[in-house]
Amino acid sequence: MRIPLIAGNWKMHTTVGEAVKLVTEMHRGLEEIDGVEKTLCPPFVSLAVVKELIKGTSIKLGAQNCYYEEKGAFTGEISPLMLAELCEYVIIGHSERRQYFHETGEIVNKKVKAALKAGLTPILCVGERLAERESGETEDVVKEQTEAALAGVETLGSLAIAYEPVWAIGTGRAATGAQANETIGFIRNIVDIKCGNAVSQNIRILYGGSVTPANAAEFMAQSEIDGALVGGASIKADQFLSIVRQTADIRRAR
Ligand code: 13P
Repeated sequence: MRIPLIAGNWKMHTTVGEAVKLVTEMHRGLEEIDGVEKTLCPPFVSLAVVKELIKGTSIKLGAQNCYYEEKGAFTGEISPLMLAELCEYVIIGHSERRQYFHETGEIVNKKVKAALKAGLTPILCVGERLAERESGETEDVVKEQTEAALAGVETLGSLAIAYEPVWAIGTGRAATGAQANETIGFIRNIVDIKCGNAVSQNIRILYGGSVTPANAAEFMAQSEIDGALVGGASIKADQFLSIVRQTADIRRAR
């Protein structure tokens, strides 16, 4: 049984003060919910303060990106080694990084390797753009992205994958549960071919893209979907709590 993971990607939202307020609003409620791994991914500048706030709870912390070098003259970058002191997870290859910061498959691959080497758990993001879905290229795109990101990676550890169709991110136009389930099953099969059945049955593959309290249950009820990477709804305490709570309820009922 794969334990569901609900991760909140706060993106470039919240000052340090706002992050403190948001965590304070939800950490007790989150702590009361069992059976789901709850992870917050605030901006880098708030990692240390959020780490203090959630100390002693089951809530986990993640970063939204990292560089692939351990240290050096790379002004403005943050290394996986620095993150490893602060958090457990790191989101890698988010479509916004690919689109706005020109991250290629090769860069994503280097980041995955560097994160694993530093002992971090990557949440690797893959997903097709609207034109690619409409021209029937969804499977080709996620296959290429997944294979590129994992090329030469011997041990995945607890690496998770988030399937985030670009057309569903921040648009209010989520995939259907069936669409997401189908593509996630396809991604699991790619992992199966590369790493074998034991790994593919253990790896958590999340859905992301306009997940809200109104549609979370539809995703969590699907057999292949092991959680969600939540953007907009993760910076609203009541909405994030509701998504985590619904996930726990659905898993308990299974
Ligand atoms: P939204 O939930 O705001 O669509 O964002 C999804 C996302 O990109 C999470 O990484």
